Amino acid sequence: MVISSKIYIEMRELEMKTVITDKSGIDEAVKLIQEGEVVAFPTETVYGLGANALDEEAVQKIFRAKGRPNDNPLNALVASKKALYMLVESIPAYVDQLIDVFSPGPITYILPSANKVATSVSANLPTVGVRIPNHPIALAILEQSALPIAAPSANVSGRPSPTTAKHVVEDLDGKIAAIVDGGATNYGLESTVVDCTGEIPIILRSGMITANQIESVVGACQIAPHVTANSHKYKHYTPDVPLYIAHSEMEFNELIQKETSNNNRIGVIVPYKHYYAHKSIVKEYILGNQEEEMAHNLYDILRSLNKSEVDIVISTVFPSPIIMDRLSQAATTVK
Ligand code: TXA
Ligand code: MG
Repeated sequence: MVISSKIYIEMRELEMKTVITDKSGIDEAVKLIQEGEVVAFPTETVYGLGANALDEEAVQKIFRAKGRPNDNPLNALVASKKALYMLVESIPAYVDQLIDVFSPGPITYILPSANKVATSVSANLPTVGVRIPNHPIALAILEQSALPIAAPSANVSGRPSPTTAKHVVEDLDGKIAAIVDGGATNYGLESTVVDCTGEIPIILRSGMITANQIESVVGACQIAPHVTANSHKYKHYTPDVPLYIAHSEMEFNELIQKETSNNNRIGVIVPYKHYYAHKSIVKEYILGNQEEEMAHNLYDILRSLNKSEVDIVISTVFPSPIIMDRLSQAATTVK
């Protein structure tokens, strides 16, 4: 029987045994990446799914493992400002300032591409997204491999970004060569993505680095309309269990009453234990009330919402725009 090479490659990937290691496996991870394999590793934001950004075939493996649409570009991680400059054609002066203040860190710059990275990294756009991560394991892998590494979040497309190695295993075990477990990521939310191709920076995805912070460094910053309108091009994760956000205590009470009369088992996402007491509440998901703590817990909670435990989940609002941005994207109905 003749098997086409494409099917053969996909069959091999189906049978792959994923090596799971701690940071003592960094050398092996580097070797695998240099050989064109795909490896998940922690960054300070979320786990990334990395492959040699200069190798088209390696990058294709990322798209296959994630089930990611080919028209959604990946960002490239680099170890230094110098390595970042190599991938881009030109850099406005304000980006230089932003890099000095915020990088390494949770910010991705979209810049005119020098066409060094494989075509599919940029999804055929004339731009490339670049970031210098601030995590010892990510930096060690980048430095030792001496490569730019294409690294989207290490989840299956449509699932929440992974903040622990366990989340990566849930989504990608058997589909990728290795996972380097470096514990929970520091922030737990993805980087701020900033379009730096124009006169002033424009935020395309909100993150821990805010428009105000960027503006305070370079004097101006806009937020793209789709960010404020919460109308993102690619569908975001919505849990199997309906998730509602209650914007006031009255709304919270009304939802509890309604779902109780429907005999539904109610779960609540709240800042602390017993924030709200009611006999129909069968499960409390504690998000916290400090931004750092909330960011750290959010995706783990969203991943854990389960039909076998609750029929519906009601969340209160939380005092953080970035948390509300991610929570609203996951909500069934934004009320
Ligand atoms: O914090 C992060 O950014 C994590 C860690 C692993 O680095 N990565 C991450 O990757 O969240 P991903 O692929 O899930 O999100 C990258 C975002 C996507 O929304 C993508 O559309 C956008 O960046 N992006 C990448 N390159 C772009 C480009 N050339 N033009 C416009 N948007 C781009
Ligand atoms: Mg992602």
